[in-house]
Amino acid sequence: MEAAQVIKVMDQMPYGLYIVGSAADGDINGMMADWVMQVSFEPRLLAVSFENDAHTLENIRASRAFTVNLLSQEEPGMELASRFAQPYYGTKVKGRTGAVATEVHHKLEGIPYTKTASGCPVLEAAMGWLECSVEEFVPAGDHTIVIGEVVDGRLVREAEPLTSSYTGWNYSG
Ligand SMILES: Cc1cc2nc3c(=O)[nH]c(=O)nc-3n(C[C@H](O)[C@H](O)[C@H](O)COP(=O)(O)O)c2cc1C
Repeated sequence: MEAAQVIKVMDQMPYGLYIVGSAADGDINGMMADWVMQVSFEPRLLAVSFENDAHTLENIRASRAFTVNLLSQEEPGMELASRFAQPYYGTKVKGRTGAVATEVHHKLEGIPYTKTASGCPVLEAAMGWLECSVEEFVPAGDHTIVIGEVVDGRLVREAEPLTSSYTGWNYSG
């Protein structure tokens, strides 16, 4: 197998870009994810693949709920989204040592949001959102796929959603 070729192809695969909201023990968090997709009509199921050490996954294991926020290509969509690519734990950032490494990022600080019935955040800037109740955790290599039943959601306004093609940000490959 030509690994470099495989990576190049996987890099080109288009994805949507979402902010996954979670909450556990009063700790409310958001993270950027593009490995998100609908996986069943009846019941309506959605799957998200999380890094095994994502704090979001830790929250979801505890609360068994999460939200998926769709941001639009309009301002402040991309700038707002970029804030959610940093991990909750500073230790997760490669090369960080000392005090910076032990820092915790409260990514929702100063960002307007409301909470769903399960306590997960819905960003005020979101063009739409879904709320999911966890059905299953499926181990998948260095990630864990979380399958959730969609229990609520709103299309707040019609707009062009953020995608990997639009942002140029890559996670695959
Ligand atoms: C464009 C982009 C897409 C990403 N997609 C995912 C994803 O689908 N799953 C994942 O676990 N991490 C993904 N990440 C990495 C997470 O956003 C990052 O690890 C995040 O900081 C974890 O947040 P948490 O520690 O607060 O849970 C992506 C990062 C970027 C820049």
